[in-house]
Amino acid sequence: MTEPRPLKLAIDEVITRRGVNVDTLKDLPQPDDDPYLRQEVLRQAGEYADKHIPARYADAVADDPAVIDWLRRILDRAVTESVMHVQCSVKTGPSLLILGPTGVGKTHQAFGVLRLLSQTGVRCAWKAVAAADLYAKLRPRHGVDSETEFRAVADAPLLLVDDLGAAKTSEWVEEVNYRLVNWRYERVLPTLFTSNVPPRELASSLGERVASRLIEMAQRVVLQGSDRRRVQVP
Ligand SMILES: Nc1ncnc2c1ncn2[C@@H]1O[C@H](COP(=O)(O)OP(=O)(O)OP(=O)(O)O)[C@@H](O)[C@H]1O
Ligand SMILES: [Mg+2]
Repeated sequence: MTEPRPLKLAIDEVITRRGVNVDTLKDLPQPDDDPYLRQEVLRQAGEYADKHIPARYADAVADDPAVIDWLRRILDRAVTESVMHVQCSVKTGPSLLILGPTGVGKTHQAFGVLRLLSQTGVRCAWKAVAAADLYAKLRPRHGVDSETEFRAVADAPLLLVDDLGAAKTSEWVEEVNYRLVNWRYERVLPTLFTSNVPPRELASSLGERVASRLIEMAQRVVLQGSDRRRVQVP
């Protein structure tokens, strides 16, 4: 009969198999809970990530130090705010605004950090939405209550809003942006925004009210580099 393997090793293996850097993970605050519970939380979070992360970013690794530092701040709060380990989950926290030109890897970093979060043992039913898809979802349509749709996204414990400011601006788009940003701002709900808008054009592109709130609520990271999609593979 083979000996059962130590659980600690099994957890590290699960994480490594998911392509998440165990060393990065060890540097992050994590709940000090029962390893059996931890294993179950990791299993569920891994399944959640598989289901909700698009195939293009399924193996994305967040390696930008500022992005990882943001996750550390979110986890710090989640871990210290929990009364019982079982309830250790993301509640309030800072947001992150990832800026940079087309193709530098903003969405890659965003999904990469959600993958990392999913392997920390902190529970979080995060949501991800591309801004343009959100507008489509919220357009008034027969038989759909767009307010319910709005709340389902706006109330997520952690929300990725990908490509804010990419859609053609209209008063209606500005209003949706404002409502969403203000909703998250007032409740101090951690939100991960990505945008192509140059830092100096945030106000002219998104409106003063949105830009002002983003500047207060979110750490900013500006990714540099060229369009990775155009890099020729030898
Ligand atoms: N650090 C990385 N390592 C490997 N591949 C990467 C990395 N960052 C990005 N990529 C790849 O480069 C391509 C562009 O990345 P991504 O979609 O994240 O760019 P983006 O900045 O979000 O672009 P856009 O502004 O058009 O939304 C994708 O195929 C992505 O998988
Ligand atoms: Mg993108």
